[in-house]
Amino acid sequence: MSQRKIQQLTLQIHRGQLHRSAQVDDATAPFESVVSEGFDRSLLATLEQLRAEHGTSEPPFPKFPGAGSDGCSDGGCGKCAVLVNGVAQLSCQTTLQSILGKANKKTAALAPLSKFPTATGLVVERQKQRDAGATVATSAAALSSCIECGICFEVCPNTGSDRSFVGPLRLVVAAGSFDDQESARRLSLGEQGVVGCHGAKNCTAYCPQGIDLASEIRDLNGKVRRQLWRSLFRSSSDYASSSAEPSQAAPQERADEASPADGGVVDSSKDD
Ligand code: SF4
Ligand code: FES
Repeated sequence: MSQRKIQQLTLQIHRGQLHRSAQVDDATAPFESVVSEGFDRSLLATLEQLRAEHGTSEPPFPKFPGAGSDGCSDGGCGKCAVLVNGVAQLSCQTTLQSILGKANKKTAALAPLSKFPTATGLVVERQKQRDAGATVATSAAALSSCIECGICFEVCPNTGSDRSFVGPLRLVVAAGSFDDQESARRLSLGEQGVVGCHGAKNCTAYCPQGIDLASEIRDLNGKVRRQLWRSLFRSSSDYASSSAEPSQAAPQERADEASPADGGVVDSSKDD
């Protein structure tokens, strides 16, 4: 007679920023629960059930994003993103079986997204994401299915509070108006823009909507390079035509006219 394999998964639910603290007491210790059935359910549904069972105990059950009527439970609102064993994913689209199966894990450590400021339980403040979202709807067609979950910002190795890179989503939003907005051009050229992207492509790999942000950024990079070349070419032509015409001006005045202070690309070689 074949014996049925008994599956168990320990859910370890961390509490906000406290899980990074060295101090561990009743208030900071993660909530732990062993689940031994219902592996085809989503992580979000499991959290809902655990909250119903333990919500009133002390310390209280940690808050989690996408709970109850706040979330859609269907992958459409982007609110339920959390870290599962360090990987950002939507809890309503993650089954317990997928956690057990993929990484053969016996423990699922749940933590809030790490690159957004304050957190309570598993819930983070996603103002940065909402700032970007204000223009997502009207920007690049590639973002039409974006649910503003914040996962692309979380998984990018070049984002974080100590980095100036605005992140893949905001960069692609800016790319949508690159051609006709000076502010978008500056964003694309500055350190916080395309220069800040080092091509890791995590944004594309982890986006739950399958949006190829990395390709959008690569296209933007191409536009920026072409614009730089055009500016350089214009500067050299201007310089060549002004050198070819005899000038009445003194040598120092001619040097001033040729300076890049009129808004072109600054040629640092002139500083040598
Ligand atoms: S682009 Fe993808 S990963 Fe980024 S916020 Fe939108 S849906 Fe989430
Ligand atoms: S609850 Fe809406 S995407 Fe998960």
